[in-house]
Amino acid sequence: HQDHECFDDDSLTKLLALLPKEKGWSSPHLYLYNGFWCPPAHLPGIISANRHFKAQDTDIILATLPKSGTTWLKALVFAITRRQHYALSQHPLLTSNPHDLVPFLHNVTLLNDDLPSFQPPRLFSTHLQYCSLHESIKSSGCRIVHLCRNPHDTFISGWHFFKKARPNDLGPLSLEEAFDMYCRGVFGYGPFWDHVLGYWKESLERPDKVLFLKYEDLKCDTLVHVKRLAAFMGVPFSAEEEREGLIKEISRLCSFSNLKELEVNKTGRSTPFVENKAFFRRGEVGDWVNHLTPEMVERLNKVIEEKLGGSGMPF
Ligand code: A3P
Repeated sequence: HQDHECFDDDSLTKLLALLPKEKGWSSPHLYLYNGFWCPPAHLPGIISANRHFKAQDTDIILATLPKSGTTWLKALVFAITRRQHYALSQHPLLTSNPHDLVPFLHNVTLLNDDLPSFQPPRLFSTHLQYCSLHESIKSSGCRIVHLCRNPHDTFISGWHFFKKARPNDLGPLSLEEAFDMYCRGVFGYGPFWDHVLGYWKESLERPDKVLFLKYEDLKCDTLVHVKRLAAFMGVPFSAEEEREGLIKEISRLCSFSNLKELEVNKTGRSTPFVENKAFFRRGEVGDWVNHLTPEMVERLNKVIEEKLGGSGMPF
């Protein structure tokens, strides 16, 4: 395993000086790198992973924009693919936050390979847009699960989250200012529309390669989509497993109400920036109605129509 040795602070500073930048959500700036707005702390890991990572045919890559349900997807995919290994009563998800079980690709070069998700099928997560994925992810037989969420809820979830992750010395980021940034595409790994569109197009062209899931569908019809997810990943539930209620039990284990109340997610910390509890806020569809003014809704609808209208995207 390499660390980020090939990308020291000096190289980072030089690279950042060349990139367009905007005010950030939880860092002073976001930088436009390869067409997406990148948090600078992630950049060395992204570059390093793009140099060293090589996908295997059995790998499963979880691709999400931040705040679209990444934590939930990690839990579900881990539980589905490892269901032969663990009894539900002694499951790693009961004592570990999902982010500690399924790593982000940009952290992989810093991790030990004794992580349970490194046994095939290896599980990795990424916020990168489809076009920025490592070539071996695109060309190998590995599968990609993309989970997207309606842009209004993604924004509100992001605003709440980054408020907590934002260092005090940066001062507050108002809802209005954050909203303006979001509508201009300035959001970690965004613009929103480029992110979803890349995966949407690929899922139409190669449905066996990319599964396009929506948070709202998963929420409203969890069992159907968990079953679909398992089949896509090549580990379909057998009729017997289904009869025994395993789909239901896995869905319950990974549900918002269950994960949120676990000690590890109430008091633990998996990342240096926020406590685990920040990943579990309300877990609902449509919370944006409590925050966005009619003018804001109109502006965002217009942007989405302009950018995604005619794409056939199911929003
Ligand atoms: P809210 O802020 O709207 O509550 P991410 O995991 O990509 O950071 O996304 C976080 C969002 O997913 C938060 O949304 C969080 O509450 C929600 N979430 C986390 N775990 C969930 C689960 N098991 N089921 C449904 N939603 C979940």
